[in-house]
Amino acid sequence: MMSGKKLRIWGTIGVALAVTVSAAAITATDAIKQRQQAMEGVRDGLMTLGAIAKKEQAFDAGVVKASAAKIADHLAEAAELFPAGSDKGEVQTWSKPEIWTDRENFDEIFKTTVQAAVDMQSVSEAEAFPPALGKLGSGCKSCHDLYRIPKQ
Ligand code: HEC
Repeated sequence: MMSGKKLRIWGTIGVALAVTVSAAAITATDAIKQRQQAMEGVRDGLMTLGAIAKKEQAFDAGVVKASAAKIADHLAEAAELFPAGSDKGEVQTWSKPEIWTDRENFDEIFKTTVQAAVDMQSVSEAEAFPPALGKLGSGCKSCHDLYRIPKQ
């Protein structure tokens, strides 16, 4: 059973979870490919938010909401794509082995970052945007710093 606290956290991201794939019967190679693809979806969403932050694009609450939803969905999807044994496969992975020895912390960062993307969806004013983006971006960074081998 999930604890009450966990249920509340997941309840707020129910929409994101609805698109979560079941990773039960997936091969390591497929898991690696699919999580990389999901992370690319996450990056696409963040690029749009980055363009707004740099004022290359005007602040638009609708665009922010859609981009943040895309990020939340793809992150929640990626979170399910690190099954045991997928530290290597037939394609290259940049995931560090520590993910599978330090799983609780890894999952916790996923949860916090998904929550930051969910919170971003209700940012309706330009002033609230930079701090919300800071929170979201630091989620990406803290996980990548610990658990992702940098690409050359
Ligand atoms: C809880 C951990 C975690 C969080 C949070 C996270 N990532 Fe990742 N990300 C990873 C790991 C691990 C990989 C390496 C996947 C692999 O190669 O197996 C990765 C890979 C990527 C990649 C490369 C995909 C590819 O094609 O190889 C991009 C881009 C990316 N993440 C963007 C983001 C962005 C943007 C955010 C924040 C909005 C984010 N990630 C949040 C763990 C995380």
